[in-house]
Amino acid sequence: MTSTRVLTGITTTGTPHLGNYVGAIRPAIAASQDDSVQSYYFLADLHALIKASDPKRVQQSRLEIAATWLALGLDTDNAIFYRQSDIHETTELAWLLSCVCAKGLMNRAHAYKAGVAENEDSGSPDPDRGITMGLFSYPVLMAADILLFNANRVPVGRDQVQHIEMARDMAGRFNHLYKGNYFTLPEAVVDERVQTLNGLDGRKMSKSYDNTIPLFSSEKKLLKLIRKIKTNSLEPGEPKDPDTCTLFQIYSAFASESEEQDMRTRYAEGIGWGDAKNAVFEHLNAQLEGPRGEYERLMQDPGHIESVLQKGAERARGEANALLERLRPAVGLGRFV
Ligand code: TRP
Repeated sequence: MTSTRVLTGITTTGTPHLGNYVGAIRPAIAASQDDSVQSYYFLADLHALIKASDPKRVQQSRLEIAATWLALGLDTDNAIFYRQSDIHETTELAWLLSCVCAKGLMNRAHAYKAGVAENEDSGSPDPDRGITMGLFSYPVLMAADILLFNANRVPVGRDQVQHIEMARDMAGRFNHLYKGNYFTLPEAVVDERVQTLNGLDGRKMSKSYDNTIPLFSSEKKLLKLIRKIKTNSLEPGEPKDPDTCTLFQIYSAFASESEEQDMRTRYAEGIGWGDAKNAVFEHLNAQLEGPRGEYERLMQDPGHIESVLQKGAERARGEANALLERLRPAVGLGRFV
């Protein structure tokens, strides 16, 4: 197992937005085109159940996300592209990991802590109100996703780094406890140039804040949303600060260094917000219109998407199964003869 293995999952809730693209999808697609890397990309649809209880939305989101990755040029001959729920070994491994994972480690997970903090703020007498075991043990399922394929590199947004560290922790404990080199310790890969994108209201772009710009919005909608990005009340002619500006941040995520530099100059020269927004729209739209057309075509052909995913699942299951065949006897669950 010498080659680099890159793995990442995308939770199938909601419609993919610019933040998902910049933080996870784009670097993953670039890696899928590199022959020296074996990449694993999957729809984290089991994770989706933690937050979404509407089956229609879960289903729709899975289809949209699959179509998005394919439209953006994911090379599915090189990369292994599959649905998490098609790989039953994932949940089996999640249980094995649960049995070596300290509960105290999970108490420190951001998503869980945020839930507790919300309850405390609202004065609830029960800090765990409304928190499911799914949410609480979310990092265990994520560790299973990663360790199942012995991935060494996991491209994620900054908010997910903690989960990769937890996966390393579980891998290390398992290896130690069962005296073997069963798991590779994964590393998070965060593109230093790209931060988490902010959304329309200036907070982090996130489905839960309802401030996203869907990646494949129609041209009209894209323009409308870019015009909605919160700016300040400085007039045209007044110099503006790019470094505290959501609009500039979004632009930079799609710009080369020299384009970014030019935009900085225009800010310093006092470009008006209307003009800046039009320029950002033009720039993004030029990059997105090709894949957008392909996306629309794929959404009309779910049979094709299904067959691509079935092929991916078959490849993934082959490997997952081989690993579980080693793990079961290691923990005492092997066959008797
Ligand atoms: N939790 C990740 C997110 O919300 C998605 C995910 C699930 C993932 N399993 C993973 C990412 C494994 C990387 C590796 O973004």
